[in-house]
Amino acid sequence: MQIIDGKKVSAEIIEQIKIETEDLKQSSGKTPGLAVVLVGEDPASAVYVRNKGRACERAGFSSFEHRLPGDTPETDLLALVKKLNEDSEVNGILVQLPLPEGMDSQKVLEAIDPAKDVDGFHPVNVGGLASGISDLAPCTPAGIMELLDHYQIPIEGQDVVVLGRSNIVGKPAALLLLKRNATVTICHSRTKNLKDITARADILVSAIGRAGSVTADMVKEGATVIDVGINRGVDGKLTGDVDFEAVSPKTSYITPVPGGVGPMTIALLMKNTLTAFRKQNGL
Ligand code: GUN
Repeated sequence: MQIIDGKKVSAEIIEQIKIETEDLKQSSGKTPGLAVVLVGEDPASAVYVRNKGRACERAGFSSFEHRLPGDTPETDLLALVKKLNEDSEVNGILVQLPLPEGMDSQKVLEAIDPAKDVDGFHPVNVGGLASGISDLAPCTPAGIMELLDHYQIPIEGQDVVVLGRSNIVGKPAALLLLKRNATVTICHSRTKNLKDITARADILVSAIGRAGSVTADMVKEGATVIDVGINRGVDGKLTGDVDFEAVSPKTSYITPVPGGVGPMTIALLMKNTLTAFRKQNGL
């Protein structure tokens, strides 16, 4: 069993991006810029947003943080997005989710210029992903692909089971794996005989959001287990969806929580921002 070190792989990717960014700054005189918008006071979101700012610094990007009160009218948020769309210093726009109750997230995501949509959540980019032509894929699923490739875990022809069908993780993860010729099954809360399905998986991706969801009897001997869950226990400790202690001895590769998929999301956000910067400047 090998524990996948997402923290290390993430650091390597950001280091590589920094080198490329230095070159591009030299040749173009321009600096990639990422705008992050946080509405409200959700403490977990505040931590994510802070980490994104730090990653920008490490990558050599400009970072623009916009914090709006939780009772901001939707029209004000839409006006800010419009301003960021028109700002040539801003190459990527990320509106941190979830938005406060009462805001129409889909409407806000659709207001972002698809060329600056580094989350890959705009319908244009979702469509591109479904067609296999997108270059801005959602960061967490794209991070999973980078981890699998880094550890040279085969994907083509493998049986992959994705637990969860969210627009942020489950659905785009399934599409990226399908593009790489995996045989993909998506399971969710209404799936029957879940254990029979997961037990066939060469790669099991869990994006459920409930601790203890993946138990040892659900996992095939020698499988790769990717845990996307981030659950805070009553003791304040972070755990994934997977019962790591019981499951890990059965696996070939497994991601820990924290230190697995989490750090990769930020690395891929930097990568998407650099991609957006290049395309916007014809570099
Ligand atoms: N909230 C949780 N994950 C994400 C993400 O990948 N992007 C955004 N914008 N919000 C999130």
